[in-house]
Amino acid sequence: MNKFFNDVWEGLNATPKRLSSKYFYDEAGDKLFQEIMQTPEYYLTNCELEIFSEKTDEISELMLSHSTSFDLVELGAGDAMKSTFLLKNLQDRKADFVYYPIDISAHVIENLSDKLPDEIPGIRINGMNGEYFDMLKQIKKISSRKKVVLFLGSSIGNIPFEHTGDFLNELHQQLNPGDLLLTGFDLKKDPRLILAAYNDASGATKRFNLNLLQRINRELDADFNLAGFEHYPVYDEASGACKSYLKSLSKQRVRIGEVGWVHFAKGEMIFMEISQKYSLQQTDELARANAFKPVKHIFDNKEWFLDTIWQVVT
Ligand code: AVI
Repeated sequence: MNKFFNDVWEGLNATPKRLSSKYFYDEAGDKLFQEIMQTPEYYLTNCELEIFSEKTDEISELMLSHSTSFDLVELGAGDAMKSTFLLKNLQDRKADFVYYPIDISAHVIENLSDKLPDEIPGIRINGMNGEYFDMLKQIKKISSRKKVVLFLGSSIGNIPFEHTGDFLNELHQQLNPGDLLLTGFDLKKDPRLILAAYNDASGATKRFNLNLLQRINRELDADFNLAGFEHYPVYDEASGACKSYLKSLSKQRVRIGEVGWVHFAKGEMIFMEISQKYSLQQTDELARANAFKPVKHIFDNKEWFLDTIWQVVT
């Protein structure tokens, strides 16, 4: 049995039920995420785009002050819309760097390898298709230069809070003292703004969540009735946890392939995703707790979003 099936079966048989948001991103999920980013409520992308388009000099200068020659590794590069501003800026400065976008989607890597050399003449790009840490290990075999890692979009918020330390630990192990990590964090703010970003009026986020049920139907021969579930996001201001659930509208059972049935009570929820929000102080604490040193904070003008640069210490 494959990993997708195992994770789904285990999650739907757990109490409370859960699915992993890493499975959101099939082809339809990628498109729906693009749709979410276009909604007026989803402020995160615009905030970070503003940072990368308006504060590019600051970012480049800091990177170049640490090392004149480095590998720029992007975890989950996607369309690299934000990082393209940085790549252009570095290229204009004739910086000595190689761009290694890492993505789980082969299509994403092909696309970047095709389009970036046209957009940024002279760029050296080496696309890596696979899991973050496997690809980082490969990059280390190819080159021993200093590393600057980008982890944008507040993707760190999708790692369950209790596992964020493990993730940073593993990343730390792949890096050397002096290497840099630039991470995007969505900051705590008016809870109404946060909740609206995960409950847009056009229903894109709802379709994004329901798409995972559709994917399970298609790939694991299940029979979820999508109309039988409601998208239910909640935001807890005290902890900063924004969580998305799918709530069963009735008592129902769902067949998963040949293996059996999953039973839902009316109102029972499937936990789908966490999008953790942070205070500035929490991000600094997270750095220090995992042997990184915060060296720069870059905010958008509204101070809703933070791109922070950390340096690896021993
Ligand atoms: C990819 N990630 C940072 C998004 C977020 O904001 O947590 C995923 C997302 N889920 C619903 N809307 C957007």
